[in-house]
Amino acid sequence: MNNIILIGFMGVGKGSVAREVVKHSEYIAIDTDDLIESMQNDKIKNIFEIYGEAYFRKLELDVASWLESSVKSTLISTGGGFYKQKNLKDIGIVVLLDSPFDAIIKRIKNHPNALKKLKKRPLLQNLEEAKKLYDERRPEYLALADIVIDVTKKSAIDCSKELIKKVKKL
Ligand code: S3P
Repeated sequence: MNNIILIGFMGVGKGSVAREVVKHSEYIAIDTDDLIESMQNDKIKNIFEIYGEAYFRKLELDVASWLESSVKSTLISTGGGFYKQKNLKDIGIVVLLDSPFDAIIKRIKNHPNALKKLKKRPLLQNLEEAKKLYDERRPEYLALADIVIDVTKKSAIDCSKELIKKVKKL
């Protein structure tokens, strides 16, 4: 399969790092949220609002089985809850982008499109709830990761270089 699967909390920078990896390697990239939006011809935010989270999770399951059966040599960035897929480790090498909750929120708020970044994420509307989700998920992310990259205060380019180096060493 030779895929790399990028996991991590919402807003940690999976998309930005994936874009840099593509620039500095032979990998092509896909994103599970993008696949779901294309499948449904709608935005994640609307899918949550209209059909609910359980429906969205079912779409993630469909994407996970398609990735396992059909995708090779690809960098796959994922939504923050995709890591729960049972076949995650059969899809590819799992790389966690890790950072403390406060640093992630700061990163989003400092972005020129901060409002848009916050609004499009249904599970980031209430920061107290989001922090609880982060605390629940972080040990699970760490337990699944073949590689961990601490992205705090690092540029996406530096993270992508670190990722490529660590994947080569495996
Ligand atoms: C989610 C993360 C989102 C998106 C959806 C649910 C989550 O992706 O899949 O809103 O459960 O953490 P990002 O991690 O790209 O924000």
